[in-house]
Amino acid sequence: MARIQITGGRRLEGSVEISGAKNAVLPILMASLLTEEPCRLAGVPHLKDVTTTMELLGQMGVGISLGDRLSVELDAGSMDSDVAPYDLVKTMRASILVLGPLLARRGEAQVSLPGGCAIGARPVDLHLKGLTAMGADISVASGYIRAKAKRLTGARIVLDTATVTGTENLMMAATLARGTTVIENAAQEPEVVDLANCLNTMGAAISGQGSNRIEIEGRERLSGYDYTVVPDRIEAGTFLTAAAITGGRVRALNAAPDTLDAVLAKLEEAGGQISTGENWIELDMNGRRPRAVDITTAPYPGFPTDMQAQFTALNAIAEGTGVVRETVFENRFMHVLELQRLGADMRLEGNAVVIRGVDHLTAAPLMATDLRASACLVLAGLVARGDTVIDRVYHIDRGYENIEEKLRQLGADIRRLAG
Ligand code: EPZ
Repeated sequence: MARIQITGGRRLEGSVEISGAKNAVLPILMASLLTEEPCRLAGVPHLKDVTTTMELLGQMGVGISLGDRLSVELDAGSMDSDVAPYDLVKTMRASILVLGPLLARRGEAQVSLPGGCAIGARPVDLHLKGLTAMGADISVASGYIRAKAKRLTGARIVLDTATVTGTENLMMAATLARGTTVIENAAQEPEVVDLANCLNTMGAAISGQGSNRIEIEGRERLSGYDYTVVPDRIEAGTFLTAAAITGGRVRALNAAPDTLDAVLAKLEEAGGQISTGENWIELDMNGRRPRAVDITTAPYPGFPTDMQAQFTALNAIAEGTGVVRETVFENRFMHVLELQRLGADMRLEGNAVVIRGVDHLTAAPLMATDLRASACLVLAGLVARGDTVIDRVYHIDRGYENIEEKLRQLGADIRRLAG
């Protein structure tokens, strides 16, 4: 299993190019199922989850080819299957995002029920409840969701929680429904907005994206898309936090400052000097040790749960005590146990972790458990004294494109160990 080794102690300096947003690319690739016309998506990062999505769509008979400059071309004109099989869904929960488009386009779908994962049970009950409200006949048996609908009808759906992929599934399904659908308590994440904007270029009629109320007027058919995905705000936030933890100065290029307000505010509170331009963000720590900050995760525009682990690492070596509270997922503190192996002084209290900053961490062998936890361990390795080796880095390859090359360009002493 591939491992990453980091020799800590280097201050990060320089610029890094941010890749396209994983959590926007996945639903937009699935949206190609909504039309028989060809689609082209540019700015696609080279990630495991993206190749898994292309494999899944390919298995359904969608024609897929890699275009120039990180673009992907898809053609679902002659797709011949409505099944998302367990062997693929189990490797990527976001496969559930084929459910809405398949139902809308083909009138039926069989999608393996995504299991839980390291960070929580990850139910999809709200996806199913919303589709049922739109007239789908849904049953769950032997680990599969079976859904049928001659044609979905528009409905007013009130989501119990602002689920990101739930909002995306329902929004895609509603684009071809008869009549108008309103999603109340909709997720407001920038990736939901990007999907809605892409669907509108296909002829969909969506308004309210980015607010908690999205309205979709159903259409008879949609055209293809030629679209470029937004930058990955979590990757940008991760690299800026890497600058903060090492006391360095990093400029994130191809970044969208207006999608990171909550994170930038906390980086400033930690002592980072932030400057921004239209498509870049710079953090300069002026060589200082970060100050501890209190974090409570929340749905957008609150502090993103996908940045929680990275800030837990930042607080580990900060001046003072910081409390990090996780309100979105029930088990997203697996990285705490690993950080304690490096000498971090932190203790779990229910859905929070109290962190007393220490003046240094000491390298140790670590194990990644999930995507963002692995990023947190890399950040800790950048400052730990000695050689930190992180195992199971396939988790990190799911969501970060060439992370060690990008960090090496910023001055990190990091390498991938084969086998
Ligand atoms: C999306 O997951 C992201 N994944 C996650 O990013 C992200 O952490 C999460 O949103 C929250 O921002 C993608 O977009 C592919 P949710 P999703 O449905 O949609 C509960 C990463 O690191 N819930 O918004 O699965 C659920 O249990 C990944 O890139 C229900 O109860 O998250 C959770 O507590 C990790 N019933 C809360 O809602 C449902 O039907 C938020 O989950 C759906 C969700």
